[in-house]
Amino acid sequence: MVKSQTATIIIRVDPSGPDAAAIQQAAAILLGGGLVAFPTETVYGLGANALDAAAVQRIFVAKGRPASDPLIVHIAALDQLDSVAAEVSVLAHSLAQAFWPGPLTLVLKRRPAIPASVSAGRDTVAVRIPDHAVPLALARAAGVPIAAPSANMFTRPSPTVAAHVLEDLDGRIDLLLDGGTTPIGLESTVLDLTGAQPALLRPGGVSMEALRQHIPDLVFVPRYVENAPAAALASPGMLLKHYSPRAELLLFAGSPERALARMRQAAQAAIQQGERVGVMLPNEEIGTFADLAVVIIPLGPRDDMSQIGRRIFAGMRELDRRGMQRILVRGVARTGIGLAIWDRLLRAAEGRVIETDD
Ligand code: TXA
Ligand code: MG
Repeated sequence: MVKSQTATIIIRVDPSGPDAAAIQQAAAILLGGGLVAFPTETVYGLGANALDAAAVQRIFVAKGRPASDPLIVHIAALDQLDSVAAEVSVLAHSLAQAFWPGPLTLVLKRRPAIPASVSAGRDTVAVRIPDHAVPLALARAAGVPIAAPSANMFTRPSPTVAAHVLEDLDGRIDLLLDGGTTPIGLESTVLDLTGAQPALLRPGGVSMEALRQHIPDLVFVPRYVENAPAAALASPGMLLKHYSPRAELLLFAGSPERALARMRQAAQAAIQQGERVGVMLPNEEIGTFADLAVVIIPLGPRDDMSQIGRRIFAGMRELDRRGMQRILVRGVARTGIGLAIWDRLLRAAEGRVIETDD
């Protein structure tokens, strides 16, 4: 009998000062070609030795991720950058100085030491220094760059607690370092510096406003694509169906009052059809649904966009676990971290946006 699954070891670690023995064990697994999931300041990552093509291949298999979607390489310090990336420009250096460690991923020219499979065959590489003690200690202990996409199955919402990682990957990975809830809860911003103009590929933990301090004319031109893998190759990571719950999610845009009124109508109609309905809303707005048979996920105070951002992926997963068939979410203002929240909700909705201001 072929044994396709092994037990996943789970070790709890202090997110601000992980135990050295746990880090040593994790580093040994990485250097032996294994897979280790760990918390970062954004979401949980699924790591492999970025210099080991066979280990990198295992990431794609474990996640069910198409080989056309490139991975992010994590390093522990700026002096490792030159071993990963080439032609690092003055702009790249100043962005790294300003935002690392932190949730900004830079796409640069790839060094040959990084296997082509990490970057899905491209001559570029995505790299960042995470702002979290666990991956920093791990990259230092292993002494190699660590390739790590988010630690979820392909197209599922990204994991913000260890239980989400296990939900998707238990038995498919060697070790999970459980460091509690990830502080940002949304992935890093991906900025491509290899073209004629810097291009924002994915809004994330570093806001567009902060980047504009360095790149005044930066814009986000979403180029979502509907189908993989051919289209994904032209525009990696921009698959519209991404971060999706199993339930069908609808995103309501427009003024809060109108959006809420339309959501209420939609909830009533779905309930009448016999559907199980979940709603995700700022705390102040949950009263709108108090008399309806819906499951409510309060996302946090309306003005606390950081908290809302931290909760959306967990909210989608919870509603899936509770068997919802439809999820209704009110959109957020697309400023600051709101741009990343909007992007994730839009993709979870696979583009189903209900405009309520006309
Ligand atoms: O916050 C994060 O970025 C997390 C943590 C674990 O670091 N990682 C993460 O990785 O979200 P992943 O693989 O789920 O998303 C990586 C994104 C994808 O959209 C991918 O297409 C893009 O980065 N990317 C990676 N390498 C690229 C490259 N060479 N050129 C263009 N896009 C690239
Ligand atoms: Mg991902």
